[in-house]
Amino acid sequence: MSKPSTAAGETPPVHLAREGAILVVTIDNPPVNALGVAVRRGLMSAIEEGEADAGVAAILVTGAGRNFIGGADIREFGKPPQSPLLTELCNRIEACSKPVLAALHGAALGGGLEVALAAHYRVALGNARLGLPEVQLGLLPGAGGTQRTPRLIGAQAALDMMLTGRHLGAKEALSLGLVDQLVEGDSADHARAAGLRELQALLDKHAPVRRSRDGKGLADTAATQAAIAAARAEAGKKSRGLFSPHKIIDAVEAATTLPFEEGLALERQFFLQCLDSPQRAGLIHAFFAEREVQKAPETRNAQPRRIEQIGVVGGGTMGAGIAVAVLDAGLPVTMIERDDEALARGRGHVEKTYDAQVAKGRLTQEARDAVLARLHGSTRYEDLSAADVVIEAVFEDLNVKQAVFAELDRVCKPGAVLATNTSYLDIDAIAASISRPADVIGLHFFSPANVMKLLEIVVPRQVASEVVATAFELAKRLRKVPVRAGVCDGFIGNRILAVYRQAADYLMEDGASPYEIDAAVRDFGFAMGPYQVVDLAGGDIGWATRKRRAATRDPRARYVHIADRLCERGWFGQKSGRGFYRYPDGPRSGAPDPEVLALIDEERARAGITPRSFSKEDIQRRYLAAMINEGANVVHQRIALRPLDVDVTFLYGYGFPRHRGGPMKYADMVGLPNVLADIRAFAAEDPLFWTPSPLLVELVERGANFESLNQAG
Ligand code: 3HC
Ligand code: NAI
Repeated sequence: MSKPSTAAGETPPVHLAREGAILVVTIDNPPVNALGVAVRRGLMSAIEEGEADAGVAAILVTGAGRNFIGGADIREFGKPPQSPLLTELCNRIEACSKPVLAALHGAALGGGLEVALAAHYRVALGNARLGLPEVQLGLLPGAGGTQRTPRLIGAQAALDMMLTGRHLGAKEALSLGLVDQLVEGDSADHARAAGLRELQALLDKHAPVRRSRDGKGLADTAATQAAIAAARAEAGKKSRGLFSPHKIIDAVEAATTLPFEEGLALERQFFLQCLDSPQRAGLIHAFFAEREVQKAPETRNAQPRRIEQIGVVGGGTMGAGIAVAVLDAGLPVTMIERDDEALARGRGHVEKTYDAQVAKGRLTQEARDAVLARLHGSTRYEDLSAADVVIEAVFEDLNVKQAVFAELDRVCKPGAVLATNTSYLDIDAIAASISRPADVIGLHFFSPANVMKLLEIVVPRQVASEVVATAFELAKRLRKVPVRAGVCDGFIGNRILAVYRQAADYLMEDGASPYEIDAAVRDFGFAMGPYQVVDLAGGDIGWATRKRRAATRDPRARYVHIADRLCERGWFGQKSGRGFYRYPDGPRSGAPDPEVLALIDEERARAGITPRSFSKEDIQRRYLAAMINEGANVVHQRIALRPLDVDVTFLYGYGFPRHRGGPMKYADMVGLPNVLADIRAFAAEDPLFWTPSPLLVELVERGANFESLNQAG
């Protein structure tokens, strides 16, 4: 083997080596071999070198580390493009006169797959994950992917890949014709060795270069047209408000009607349009924010404790959901309930979840039984003596919870992490009530706990750093998205929710109907409006909270009675057949209710309010301004570490549309001076509610934005 040489720069991310007549090009740009400018330059000159060197007969492209290539360098988007463009690089690879083979292991995603598709041959290790996930970033494959993929695997499969962004396993990629061969192994070394072997075999049989641009995947015109029409119909329904899915379909259509070069030119045009769109900015913010939230101060300076045995106290809605989440992660759970009857109910809730999966054919009966064998039930706290982490999910009552924690204090082993799933209660007060406050933390799951991704990790005053680190580790095991929150009424999410729900109630009393408000909120991109959510969750829950808080409410604050009036009539929402909506034919049949509108009119009259009309934009501006202002307060008071923690909370726990990046990112995009001006204008009617957050005021005065605080940690 000849001495490795380098292709670019001082710390070259592309290495070259010779194995006989094969030039081995290895991309080495940790952590994921993203195709930043230095990699593109290195690859370009590697291909040039291979082409020019008479001693080189073929070129192998591989990745060092755990992946082939994770895609274009996402951090470069939004900055001025630097040459060579990825699409130019791919064209150069494909044009090479000597056979180029890509050996794939780990991620071959986005631009990474496009590089592989530009190569003439492809082999994949069993652990390879192939995909075109650009749609998840508001983009489309912009380096020939929209043109080469359908030519290789047909329009339908190509559209499925690009519109879902899903990762294909190596076997599926092989069966679709995206790769030529599956090879043994799972490491970069294996990929290199297999690539060399296959390329040598190709050379031995004088295999010609074979270009994806000449692929015959679009030969069946009728099937191609049907696939495009079907994708268009589907995108019209599913991709509400999203831009790039439509552009993906247009680009694939171009592949079917235009010569390759013209299709590529159109792809580039569409790619630039997507790159320019605020949706791209929002989605890429979401991508980095959801990785950034994993990094709390405690995850840097402390080691997690052992997590092998989990206890859950309470087998109600949340306790059972948490138990399922833990079982799904492969861990054993001991569930504690008050008595045998409640325990049987709790176990029943868990079993129901798995039975439903069996019924849908997603799980075999044996697999179900194996999972449930890891669930142990008990009415004796002593059975938690071996637990490493105990999560309490009993009634939302401080006395009840403190009594449970006294039991945990008595029976749990030293060092056990004692967590509460409380939604609102003071976790400092729970911690202070036992002898080991440093072990107490909040783990606020969202309902349904086995489905919802968000986990607020609520950090009380006295907690030990390694307990916080353990909570983050547990989140990782449960595949949750953790957000670090401070103790306050409602933590990050529910505290902000309470405020924008109030803004919605004010809008309703001032003249907008709940149906107009829900429609405006949906139009913004939420799947549901606030009153649909109330009806889904049950109006009685909020009613109970309002009654509990009545004594501590600021007497100067405006209070809207409409929701209480509904609850007084027993109109709790879907479960009682009517709430803000009527449900004549079950949960999905929500229809506006004239009696609710009449009741709202009565309340307006009682409050002396002459209703006025609000446009969709008026509604959205107030709703969002309330959310942003309280988000700023939450950051200002260090309840959230950074604005991006608020964003992730809302993306994963409250249905905020991902393409808008989260409320704080959205505020930056609208412009903080505009948001503040709105709040000041609304304050003319209600200065108490619309008090601008000091942080918002400060940022506007400094000419700064929320993003500037995201680096702070
Ligand atoms: N560009 C820049 N940074 C990237 C990146 C990329 N494409 N992909 C990952 N990273 C960074 C992450 O931000 C993270 O940084 P941090 O350590 O500072 O937080 C680090 O790499 C590790 O990422 P993960 O924690 O996600 O690592 P995993 O091992 O869990 O996953 C992965 C690896 C599957 C490659 C995953 O990172 C991933 O899905 N990346 C994005 C893939 C993607 O969307 N590619 C398409 C890009 S767009 C494109 O290619 C356009 C083209 O068509 C022109
Ligand atoms: P739930 O009423 O469905 O379940 C509570 C369960 O706790 C019941 O099964 C009850 O028998 C059991 N229990 C009560 N006292 C107990 C004790 N001393 N020992 C053992 N078990 C006991 O209530 P839900 O909705 O599951 O809520 C539980 C907690 O989770 C509350 O703190 C709530 O605020 C919080 N939460 C609820 C969410 C929701 O959407 N329901 C979302 C996030 C948090």
